[in-house]
Amino acid sequence: MSTVAFSTPTPRSRATDIDGRTVAEGDPATASLDTVEAAHRHGVRVLRAAGVEEAWLDALLLLMEVTRLDKATLLAYPQRRLAAGVADRYVDLLGRRARREPTAYILGRCEFYGLEFAVDRRVLIPRPETEMLVDLALEALRPYRPDVARRRVVEVGTGSGAIAVSLLRTVPDLRLTATDCAAEALAVARANAARLGVADRLELRHGDLLEPVEGSFDLLLANLPYVPRGRLPTLQPEVRDYEPRVALDGGPDGAEIIRRLLAQAARRLNPGGHLAVEVDSSHARAVADEARRHFPDADVVVRRDPSGWERVVHIHRPPRPTGPS
Ligand SMILES: C[S@@+](CC[C@H](N)C(=O)[O-])C[C@H]1O[C@@H](n2cnc3c(N)ncnc32)[C@H](O)[C@@H]1O
Repeated sequence: MSTVAFSTPTPRSRATDIDGRTVAEGDPATASLDTVEAAHRHGVRVLRAAGVEEAWLDALLLLMEVTRLDKATLLAYPQRRLAAGVADRYVDLLGRRARREPTAYILGRCEFYGLEFAVDRRVLIPRPETEMLVDLALEALRPYRPDVARRRVVEVGTGSGAIAVSLLRTVPDLRLTATDCAAEALAVARANAARLGVADRLELRHGDLLEPVEGSFDLLLANLPYVPRGRLPTLQPEVRDYEPRVALDGGPDGAEIIRRLLAQAARRLNPGGHLAVEVDSSHARAVADEARRHFPDADVVVRRDPSGWERVVHIHRPPRPTGPS
């Protein structure tokens, strides 16, 4: 029978709980973890005490990870016994989650656009609302479909490669160039592109914004850091203490890097081209105004995410007028 976490030798009547505190046996923290149900109940209690919002789900995900069983099996067979060593591994993962490490980093993966991406502390964990950029890109590419391979598509600040790889997986002929200023993030993107079979159509470049990319483009996508600097200390611990600062810090008002991108992109967006950038709702209107200054002939629209937040600034240049032939 397994009990909670006891890596350090302890006197017979004492034990160490998940946070390393010494507790008396019989304490709830030393509950028996020999069945799925007991382990899950214990996990939920530990995570709730640590302030984790989705304690029930996260405890289950960690249990799925250590048992290699799916959710349905775990819920259908609560009295199933945990194999030797499994409970210890579970307690170890629970401890990490209780210290507010994000579940995606603990598992080493997350889902985005129906695909599984490897993630670790070198990259931001892709967020569901960012899938909007992929949808928008697909919409923008639709008129180009017959010769999409000739279109110049760029993603700036690719991180794990979630946006670029999802797009490449969905549009088989597309080629894409993606940049990031963090070489270690590009290594993660490269591995994801290879694992998901699109590495031959993705060019990764290291550098500041559009500097490593020459020429003009038909579609530019960017989810750059946009958290106002003063708000960084108030973020939840999962984000503040674990995700890369270079992926979060958007300068004093959050829009500093986005503004620099707009300045770099002006005069490089082809007629008929699209530029879509994810923003924080607090500066969406200001970014849209800035975009109108840089792209005076373009349509600039602020789009809301499924939760109703102003999330993307979308710039569309009208196509070149076709004269009489
Ligand atoms: C918010 S994360 C987004 C990552 C990924 N695109 C996604 O949506 O999950 C921002 C990314 O931009 C990169 N970045 C920050 N400043 C940059 C800059 N000046 N030039 C290029 N990339 C930058 C960061 O390293 C990070 O990978």
